[in-house]
Amino acid sequence: MIFYFSGTGNSRHVAKRLATLTDDSCINLADHPNLASSPLQAEEPLGLVFPAHGWNIPSIVKAFVQNFAYNLLETNIKQQESSHYIYIVATCGDDTGRLLQQCSNLLSFLGVKLSSAWAVQMPNTYVCLPGFNVDSPLLVEQKLRQSMKEVENIAICVRKRQKGIFSMRPGTFPTLKTYILGPIFYKVLITDRHFHTTPSCTLCGTCVRHCPVGNLTIDHGRLQWQHRCTMCLACFHSCPRRAIRYGWFTKNKGQYLFHPHLLPSV
Ligand SMILES: Cc1cc2nc3c(=O)[nH]c(=O)nc-3n(C[C@H](O)[C@H](O)[C@H](O)COP(=O)(O)O)c2cc1C
Ligand code: SF4
Ligand code: SF4
Repeated sequence: MIFYFSGTGNSRHVAKRLATLTDDSCINLADHPNLASSPLQAEEPLGLVFPAHGWNIPSIVKAFVQNFAYNLLETNIKQQESSHYIYIVATCGDDTGRLLQQCSNLLSFLGVKLSSAWAVQMPNTYVCLPGFNVDSPLLVEQKLRQSMKEVENIAICVRKRQKGIFSMRPGTFPTLKTYILGPIFYKVLITDRHFHTTPSCTLCGTCVRHCPVGNLTIDHGRLQWQHRCTMCLACFHSCPRRAIRYGWFTKNKGQYLFHPHLLPSV
C-alpha cells in the first residue's frame, strides 16, 4: 500500500505512477487518516509519498506516520521481526535538507526501521516569500522528464525490495535548514492567517474543492480559512481568477498545478 499526501498534485502523480509500476494501490492519507491504524497485511510493502515543507515532513504526514508506526508496534510486526518493506519518497522543488533523518528518527523512536528513501525533484510550488516562485515552463518540463526516470528507478528498487538506499537531496546547509530555519518557518508561516482574497474573487468554489483538508468554506458571501491549514498552497495555485494572496509577497507570483498534459512525451 502507498499512502500519499499532496497539495498541488506532484506527490499524487508520483504515488500513482509508483503504484502502477509496482502493482500496488495508493490512498490519499488526508482522505483516510484512520487507515494509519487499520490492520496491515503481512509482507505488504508500505510506501509514503509526500512533499517536503520547509525541509521537514508536513505536519499532517507526521501525525499519520506516528499512528502508522504505533500500529506496526501494536500489531507486533516491527521491521526487525517481519518482512515489511517501508519506504519514503519525498517530492521537493529544490532540496530536502535533513528530512531523511527526521523520518528515520520519527520511525526508529517508535521501533520501526525505514528500508529505503528517495527524494524526487518536481516543479516548485512555494511562492509566499520574496525570491520564491514557480519554475519556468522549461524547468517544469526538465524536472518532470527527469522525475519520470527517477520514479521508474525507484519502482525497480521497490519491486526488488532493495534496502539501504537513501537517495535524498540534502542541498546546501541541510542541518541549518531542517533544524533551525524549518522550525521558524513552521512557527511563523505554516498558518492560514495571512491568506486573503482580492475583489476579483467570484466565490466560484474551485479553491474549496482543491483544498485536501477541507479548510475552506464560503460563508456570509466570503471565502473563509478554518485554521486547519497544512499550507500546501493548492488554494492559491488553483484559483482561476488569481484572487488569493498570502501576506504581501504573492501578488505577481505564478501558479502551478500538476496536470498529466505537462508530462513531456518520451
Ligand atoms: C509550504 C511549502 C514548503 C515547501 N518547502 C520546500 C522545501 O523545503 N524544499 C523544497 O525543495 N521544496 C519545498 N516546497 C516545494 C514542494 O515540496 C514541491 O513543489 C512538491 O513537489 C509539492 O508537492 P505537491 O504538489 O504534492 O503538494 C515547498 C512547498 C510548500 C507549499
Ligand atoms: S477559486 Fe478564486 S475566485 Fe473561486 S472562490 Fe476561490 S478565491 Fe474565489
Ligand atoms: S487552505 Fe489552502 S493552503 Fe491550506 S490546506 Fe487548504 S488548500 Fe492547502
